[in-house]
Amino acid sequence: MTQDELKALVGRAALDFVVPLAVVGVGTGSTVNCFIDALATVKDTITGAVSSSVQSTERLRSHGIRVLDANEVEAIPVYIDGADEIDARGHMIKGGGAALTREKIVADLAERFVCIADESKLVDRLGRYPLPVEVIPMAAAQVARRFASAYGGQAAVREGVTTDNGNWLLDVRGLAIADPLAMETEVNQWPGVVTVGIFARRRARVCLLGTSQGVKALSFD
Ligand code: 5RP
Repeated sequence: MTQDELKALVGRAALDFVVPLAVVGVGTGSTVNCFIDALATVKDTITGAVSSSVQSTERLRSHGIRVLDANEVEAIPVYIDGADEIDARGHMIKGGGAALTREKIVADLAERFVCIADESKLVDRLGRYPLPVEVIPMAAAQVARRFASAYGGQAAVREGVTTDNGNWLLDVRGLAIADPLAMETEVNQWPGVVTVGIFARRRARVCLLGTSQGVKALSFD
């Protein structure tokens, strides 16, 4: 099976986690696009969706799925999103699609994070994928220096990209993230950091992994 077929497979499998009559949290990316297309087939059974990006909002609306503002909901049962990397405990690197801040906000509204990914995303240790960090533009150089001194990481501004929130992204290479929760907590304190793309505090509870043998459900509770 191709990577695209695996993404389509897990996108459809995620429908099993959509709660009838509830609002569903929707992430961003090519795997989530497959989920949104599948969600369209059951759109009359849900109240609507809270979206994590302009891109996903447009796709949801193109299918006639109602999109609610995050401020309109207090809690949602499930958030469904992809990942750039996921480890055996459900910790993730996210933000390859530049949507990490809104993704973390919607994930935080949810009781359960369900990650959908093809098997290439499962890793022993996070850090081979460059870590995305959304920063206030004037802090970019300072945050980059801090990554070098604190973790030996090399950060570069993602050229030509402004986030949905009007900020810049750093991609940090050369990290071996032994303790994702500790690094997420530490980097979140640095002035000018809006969001670090480590999802450890709000890790996945379930991962639907697309493999050549079919969908493998990993549970991290
Ligand atoms: C976007 C993300 C995506 O979930 C991540 O980049 C995975 O994307 P894809 O499903 O296209 O591989 O974090 O900010």
